[in-house]
Amino acid sequence: MNMRINPWSSEIPNYNKLVNEFGIRPFEEVLEHIKDPSMLMRRGIIFGHRDFKRIFDAIERRERYAVVTGMMPSGKMHLGHKMVVDEVVWFMNHGAEVYIPVADIEARSTRKIDREEIEKIAVEEYIANYIALGIDEKVAKIYFQSKNDTVKNFMFELANYVNLSEIKAIYGFGGETSIGTLLSPIVQAADILHPEIGEAIPVVVPVGADQDPHIRLARDIAQRIKFIPPSSTYHRFMTGITGEKMSSSVPKSAIFLTDDVDTARRKVMMCKTGGRETMKKQREMGGEPHKCAIFELFAYHLIEDDKKLYEIRERCEKGEIICGECKNMAADMIEKLLKTIEERRDITKAYAIVEK
Ligand code: TRP
Ligand code: SF4
Repeated sequence: MNMRINPWSSEIPNYNKLVNEFGIRPFEEVLEHIKDPSMLMRRGIIFGHRDFKRIFDAIERRERYAVVTGMMPSGKMHLGHKMVVDEVVWFMNHGAEVYIPVADIEARSTRKIDREEIEKIAVEEYIANYIALGIDEKVAKIYFQSKNDTVKNFMFELANYVNLSEIKAIYGFGGETSIGTLLSPIVQAADILHPEIGEAIPVVVPVGADQDPHIRLARDIAQRIKFIPPSSTYHRFMTGITGEKMSSSVPKSAIFLTDDVDTARRKVMMCKTGGRETMKKQREMGGEPHKCAIFELFAYHLIEDDKKLYEIRERCEKGEIICGECKNMAADMIEKLLKTIEERRDITKAYAIVEK
C-alpha cells in the first residue's frame, strides 16, 4: 500500500513506517558522532534524519552550513512549536547560519487567513516568542516569505524543475486545488535551498515528520539544479493534554506559550498520565511513564538533567511516586518556564525585524 503523509492534516504518523518505508534513517545511528547532543537528540525525541552526516561533518570541521525551518503563522505557539525553536537554537550555537521563514504565503493559500491578521500573528505571537526562546535576532534571518525577493524569485526558478504529476503524486492534489496551494511547497523548497545560492553549503531542516513530503521534494529539486540536497531531522510530536497530538486547532490539547499561569497549571493537572486506576495498584505495580503526558513534559521541556529524568522514571515504575506529586512538580516547572518566556517576549524587537 502506498501511504501518503499529509503535511496539512493533524494525524500522528507511524514513526516506524516512516523509517522503514520512506527512507528516513534512525537518528540513533548518528548520535554517537555528535559531541554534545541536545536533550531532544539524546532522548530519541528526534528519531530520524536524512543525510545528517553532512551536518555533523560541517560542525566538526567548522565549515559553513545553514539551518532553515519555518512555521505557518496560523494560530498560537504551543510547546510542540517550542521544540522546533529549541532545535534551531542548538544549531545556532553550533555554528549554523540561521534562516527562519514566516510561512505567510503557505498560510494564506492553505488556511485562507486574512493578510493583516497573518502579519499580526506572525510578529506578536511567533517572532516575539522566537526571540524569547533564545533565537538571536541579530544573527538569525527571520523573514516573511512574501517579502523576501530572493526567495520569491528563486521559487519561480525552481518551479521550472517540477511538474504537475510529481506534485500530484506527492500531495494527492486534485483538480480543485488552487495554484496557490500547488506553489506553496515550491516556496518552501525555495526557503530551504536559497542559502545555497552562490555557494552550495549543507543545509539542515529540523521538522516534524509530517513535513517530510516537502523535504523529499526539496531534495529532488536540489539534485536537478546541482545543489546539495538538504539534510533533515524529524522529531516526535508531543502528546497533548487529552492524549492526542498537541495541536493549535484543538486548543484544549495544547499548552500555549502565552497561557497565563493559572490556565497552564490547570492544563497540567488535567494531563493524561501513565498512572493506575487506584493508588493501591500504583503502589504495587508502578506507573507507566512511557504513556504519560506529564513525563513527556519533563523529557521534552522541563528537565535538562538526564540523571534526574531517569530517577523520576525509576521511581514511577517502582510505584514510589504518585501522579499527584508529579503533576504538582510539573505545574511548578511550567509556571517558571512560561514566566521566563513572558519576560523575554519582546514585541517591539519583533516588529523591528519586520520593518527591516
Ligand atoms: N510548511 C511548514 C509548516 O507547515 C512551514 C515552512 C515554510 C517550513 N518554509 C519552511 C518548514 C522551510 C521548514 C522549512 O509549518
Ligand atoms: Fe506519570 Fe509521574 Fe504518574 Fe509516573 S507518577 S505515571 S511519571 S505522572
